[in-house]
Amino acid sequence: MNTSQETLLVTGATGANGTELLKLLSHHGIPARAMVRKASALADLPGVELVQGDFDDPTSLPLEGVDRAFLVTNSSERAETQQLAFVEAAKKAGVRHIVKLSQFAAQEDSPVRFLRYHARVEAAIRESGMEFTFLRPNLFFQGLLGFADLIKSGKLMAPIEEARVSAVDVRDIAAVALAAMTEEGHSGRTYTITGPESLSHADFAAALALATGHSVDFIPVSTEAFGSALRSFGMPQWQAEGLLEDYAHYNRGEAETVFPTVEEVTDQAPRKFADFARDYASLF
Ligand SMILES: NC(=O)c1ccc[n+]([C@@H]2O[C@H](COP(=O)([O-])OP(=O)(O)OC[C@H]3O[C@@H](n4cnc5c(N)ncnc54)[C@H](OP(=O)(O)O)[C@@H]3O)[C@@H](O)[C@H]2O)c1
Repeated sequence: MNTSQETLLVTGATGANGTELLKLLSHHGIPARAMVRKASALADLPGVELVQGDFDDPTSLPLEGVDRAFLVTNSSERAETQQLAFVEAAKKAGVRHIVKLSQFAAQEDSPVRFLRYHARVEAAIRESGMEFTFLRPNLFFQGLLGFADLIKSGKLMAPIEEARVSAVDVRDIAAVALAAMTEEGHSGRTYTITGPESLSHADFAAALALATGHSVDFIPVSTEAFGSALRSFGMPQWQAEGLLEDYAHYNRGEAETVFPTVEEVTDQAPRKFADFARDYASLF
């Protein structure tokens, strides 16, 4: 691992992937800047320096002197504009290498809006001439944390039948990101990142039941019912529609394949869903 004096910037620092990456950098004694919009407990991690920046204001981006940047935003309607502006600002500021969190099967002609915007940002990064590593993870295990109350009540619902998904633990995505941000040899690579097995949502429910000791039943629901539930939780329409497109893509069996990337890049086997369920059981 390269612990040289390179300056590393982690965006989306308070989010799922950014936080896990910063924990790993800190654990390995590698200093990093964490881009945030407000005060954060991340400042307590040894070696982490908070820097202010807002994707909606490209002039605020703290890119001065940065060698490598980890780029992640949430998937909102503004994500593409925010990320393209970041790429342009990074190029101008002389950033050498961008590690971009993309998504499994990113493609410009995909019927899934998230996959289209990720592919367009990847294309812009390629065209910029900066070094790049694209991380394309499949569905995150940790996404289920958003449904923790429902799971506590014994139910897991999603608009999917038996189709399996090679979902992955965010901690393993962060381990690949750590390698890409701190080692040589990952430039120009596109890494599709999955867990070690392909599971149905009924399999997720069974593993959660085993880990928590209470029953968890998987109930397939219609696209319409799931969409209304997402809207009632306050999810913006563009995002809710995107999630339904994601689920249609899973239902078509397009996200089943298992890739050996985590083990190849990190020398560690990726966590199984059962490991995730055990580690997070108290939240479910
Ligand atoms: N969920 C999945 O299963 C899945 C699978 C594959 C790929 N992905 C991709 O993963 C990405 C999301 O990653 P994640 O889950 O780690 O992120 P996340 O937990 O949603 O966190 C988003 C981060 O972006 C920051 N942010 C939002 N708006 C900002 C702004 N205007 N300026 C600066 N920072 C801003 C947030 O900071 P604040 O704390 O300030 O809000 C937060 O740190 C998306 O691109 C998605 O397509 C998701």
